[in-house]
Amino acid sequence: MKNILITGGAGFIGSHVVRLFLNTYPEYTIYNLDKLTYAGNLENLKDIQNHNNYHFLKEDICDFNRMKVLFKEYKISDVIHLAAESHVDRSIEDPFSFAQTNVMGTLSLLQAAKEYWDRDFSNHLFYHVSTDEVYGSLGAEGFFTEETAYDPHSPYSASKASSDHFVRAFADTYGLPTVISNCSNNYGSYQFPEKLIPLFINNIVNNKPLPVYGKGENVRDWLFVNDHARAIDVIFHKGKLGETYNIGGFNEWKNIDLIKVIIKTVDRLLGREEGTSDKLITYVTDRAGHDLRYAIDSTKLKNELGWQPSLQFEEGIEKTVKWYLENQEWMTNVTSGDYQAYYQKMYSN
Ligand code: NAD
Ligand code: DAU
Repeated sequence: MKNILITGGAGFIGSHVVRLFLNTYPEYTIYNLDKLTYAGNLENLKDIQNHNNYHFLKEDICDFNRMKVLFKEYKISDVIHLAAESHVDRSIEDPFSFAQTNVMGTLSLLQAAKEYWDRDFSNHLFYHVSTDEVYGSLGAEGFFTEETAYDPHSPYSASKASSDHFVRAFADTYGLPTVISNCSNNYGSYQFPEKLIPLFINNIVNNKPLPVYGKGENVRDWLFVNDHARAIDVIFHKGKLGETYNIGGFNEWKNIDLIKVIIKTVDRLLGREEGTSDKLITYVTDRAGHDLRYAIDSTKLKNELGWQPSLQFEEGIEKTVKWYLENQEWMTNVTSGDYQAYYQKMYSN
């Protein structure tokens, strides 16, 4: 029996984690706490919204007093913390909101957990979900391991690095039972179409330009989102307190090569002639401070906890493109802003 607070559960990865936990652990009660920013969408959870063990709380993690009340009211035993501002380009435009949500919001949850659990930390866990971007950028060779020194470059990664440090500080100073995972780039269903893969699928469908930053030579390590959710499940149940686990797919792609795979897949599934959408590729000014290469070494997670990715990339990308093509209404809703107006109406009190 656990009362698990999952923050950011209406977002991309969070919605997959909420679904996995509800479907796998009938003995757990899940409290999905989400502010429903532009990136949070309850449509992502339509299939489980009436589940007996599921409760949605529209709240802001930065509101410390509310967090204290909620921990007590719902007798929260564990936290899986995913809520964050997550898009690098937005962090370049508005670094303050990243510091506020990612740093202050995490601190607010840590302090609320510490106060509610009140030094009796047995049978509790604060699981912080972080990113490989805290490690900075690699050259042509090598991998990020759990020992790699932090070297964030964007306001987003600086804010995530700072939140990781606060989590470790709470473990070292107060003995809070914590675990952190740092994952590579995720792809799959329900990702907000500001991120490369859903943005480009949508643009190809609509014959719009595909803005490739710089020369398209940056490298990312892509992991199917359901595999990330499975890793979170394994770490939540078997991870050692105070530890960090890297999660990745050993699946590196140069952006331009990945983009060509996406174009080919979308064109084929739409019945277009091969090469139809190649002309949409448009090289644009590079992202400021653009990290060249990320590559995660997830050997520790495999050796110590037995996790490894379940899907080959070709299968994952095929499933993903199909999902976006079959869920055009979801795409239209999130791009039109209609759902934002709906939430405004539903929850403005
Ligand atoms: P997302 O942007 O899709 O979702 C974030 C969610 O957090 C949204 O539902 C949003 O409404 C909510 N939220 C934002 N501010 C909040 C606040 N103040 N209070 C409560 N809720 C708030 O993000 P994502 O891609 O699903 O990422 C989830 C987590 O995983 C983040 O912590 C991110 O740093 C991390 N991560 C993401 C990736 C990736 O490839 N997307 C990879 C590694 C780690
Ligand atoms: O590595 C994990 C991180 O992956 C997460 O922590 C972040 O939350 C998540 O957003 C993601 O960050 P990236 O910056 O790598 O993802 P994004 O989809 O924004 O970009 C992927 C690559 O594609 C990157 O090199 C920038 C490039 N790009 C992106 C967009 C949106 C383009 O060339 N054109 C674009 O329009």
